[in-house]
Amino acid sequence: MKRVLFICLGNICRSPTAHGVFRSMVERRGMAHLIEIDSAGTAAYHVGNPPDHRAAAAALKRGIDLSDLRARQAVPADFHHYDFIMAMDKENLSELKAICPADFQGHLGLFLELASLSEREVPDPYYGGPAGFDHVLDLVESASEALLDHIAAELNK
Ligand code: 4NP
Repeated sequence: MKRVLFICLGNICRSPTAHGVFRSMVERRGMAHLIEIDSAGTAAYHVGNPPDHRAAAAALKRGIDLSDLRARQAVPADFHHYDFIMAMDKENLSELKAICPADFQGHLGLFLELASLSEREVPDPYYGGPAGFDHVLDLVESASEALLDHIAAELNK
């Protein structure tokens, strides 16, 4: 069993998109019983809220349903539960490093680092137009493939 947590700032745009895309990929590969998935935000502004309607609409165009997801804030206890804590940008990563216990044994890093992309961060689409949400999906789809290949290899060891 591997546990994966996706992190962004508000947990209403990028990390729920990653949660939904990765979950659907895991289900398609028949690995849902092997991988637990969640997402959270470093900030508390949107706790309890569903994903941003623009993120939900962009995902639904690609067959990904985010409607069951609700925002929560990342907490230090997450480090005791998750094996992979994947941050969307460097700011998220530094917020996480600030609350990461010294004995954390898992992987904390940028979500895009495993994918062969020219970008290292998933840009915040919140204050931009709809194209930003499609770009988030493109990046998240590539990075999800790479992360799932990596985890599948670990599970097969
Ligand atoms: P997210 O996007 O971190 O991808 O969920 C944002 C959502 C809300 C805000 C900023 C980014 N905000 O400032 O409220």
